[in-house]
Amino acid sequence: MGRIHLNSPVEAQVRYMAVEPQFARGGLGGRILVGLEARARELGAKRVVLNSRELACRFYQQHGYAVCGPAETMFGQIPHARMMKELS
Ligand SMILES: CC(C)(COP(=O)(O)OP(=O)(O)OC[C@H]1O[C@@H](n2cnc3c(N)ncnc32)[C@H](O)[C@@H]1OP(=O)(O)O)[C@@H](O)C(=O)NCCC(=O)NCCS
Repeated sequence: MGRIHLNSPVEAQVRYMAVEPQFARGGLGGRILVGLEARARELGAKRVVLNSRELACRFYQQHGYAVCGPAETMFGQIPHARMMKELS
């Protein structure tokens, strides 16, 4: 699953990305992310941001996202990085 939210008319945010562990690394997450980006474009967004836990940063980097700063620590213990991608 995954959700796309508009933070502003030009900025979309990916939230709640998750794939059931037994289906992980089979390409589903990538397909969900590509679909969310397509929807963001339809909504007029020029960039997508997200907060990624450290383990997932590689997944997002493979899809063109770059770390642009720290994000809040979830539940007081899971560090997250803010990531961004300009939509072409
Ligand atoms: C991150 C997540 C959404 C990716 O979905 P997915 O279907 O596994 O991803 P894909 O199969 O499309 O892509 C695989 C790539 O994701 C990354 N990846 C996925 N699971 C990983 C893991 N457990 N450890 C390290 N990298 C991982 C790798 O870069 C991998 O590429 P590789 O196999 O060539 O090394 C999924 O693994 C997940 O739900 N993880 C747990 C929850 C989570 O971290 N959500 C994101 C919150 S910010």
